[in-house]
Amino acid sequence: MYPSMWSNVSFEMEEFCKILPKIELHAHVNGSISAETMEKIIHNKDLVGVDMLKLNKWIHSVKKGEKKNLDETFEMFKIMHQLVTDTDTVSMVTYDVIKEFANDNVRYLELRSTPRDVPSTGMTKQSYVEAVLQAIEKCMQENVKIIVRFLLSVDRSRGVNVAMETVQLAKQFKESSKGIVIGVDLSGNPNVGDMNDFVPVLKEAKNAGLKLALHIAERTNHVEESALLLSIPPDRIGHGTFLHPEVGGRQDLVDMTQKYNIPIETCLTSNVLGRTVPSFDKHHFKYWYDKKHPCIVCTDDKGLMLTSSSAEYIIVSNTFHFTKQQLYDISFNSIDCIFENDKIKDELRSQWETSKNFLDLQK
Ligand code: IMP
Ligand code: ZN
Repeated sequence: MYPSMWSNVSFEMEEFCKILPKIELHAHVNGSISAETMEKIIHNKDLVGVDMLKLNKWIHSVKKGEKKNLDETFEMFKIMHQLVTDTDTVSMVTYDVIKEFANDNVRYLELRSTPRDVPSTGMTKQSYVEAVLQAIEKCMQENVKIIVRFLLSVDRSRGVNVAMETVQLAKQFKESSKGIVIGVDLSGNPNVGDMNDFVPVLKEAKNAGLKLALHIAERTNHVEESALLLSIPPDRIGHGTFLHPEVGGRQDLVDMTQKYNIPIETCLTSNVLGRTVPSFDKHHFKYWYDKKHPCIVCTDDKGLMLTSSSAEYIIVSNTFHFTKQQLYDISFNSIDCIFENDKIKDELRSQWETSKNFLDLQK
């Protein structure tokens, strides 16, 4: 985390953001791996072919607050994928990521990850998903205070056939995972892939009862593509950075987002570091918040971006001068946006109500 980015926040507000119960709905497993977990992997493994120099340089420069563009970020994912190549490591990193979110008082977490096969270790896409589910199961057995659900990610740079394979896998696990696999995410390098090819595949997932969380309008000049993806419509939007006309989007994209009431997963640090948003105060979170449109405060890749759920709330508080009550409301209202049923939503709402006893919202 970068203290320089939120140094104006009072100690009291910082503590508040930490103890505030939170919802995390946009977290990629391999981008969320913390430095501590990375050290464990490095210690445990024979790391032939992994560019550790690049990885260490990244961590060092992010710690200094240096910004990275999206292409540099995607280079880092390749290195993370070289580190996580077998099912034991997939389980271990997923377990650690869940525990870290739970320790940060995230009470409900939707993780997402791209199933990968690595023939040299025997890992298949199927066993990759099983390894993630094993970690979730382990946390449940240990009564870790967090509910975890899982979305399978379609990486748009891997082509439409792989996308179809991922959707089939998601359909299969939706039936067999006792409600843990609940949806499909569309992510990957936004400059690659023609979404005309992907829409039928995404629609198939939706028709099968899977929820859709799609990265949309992450870059400029994707107006037509954004309109196409919004027309499905998805159940949530990832980023939605360039939807509105003031930043080069289009009014009809705003209208569609509002008409279908599609919540937006906003990731402030990720966008500022990725240089798609010039500064926190220019972040589109405020545009949608002012419209009373559902927005969730999310981390995206907490490991690579050295952030956390509470750090993102601290940034929101610092940037927009929100009160504790406003931060509580953002967190509470995020419950409406989870891909779960009313029973679980009500359980969470009552946890939030209880938390008011120690949150001291008026001060
Ligand atoms: P994984 O799916 O668990 O391996 O997490 C890393 C992957 O998430 C990357 O390879 C990308 O496909 C995807 N991802 C993470 N952050 C972003 C983002 O900001 N935009 C688009 N895709 C992303
Ligand atoms: Zn993302």
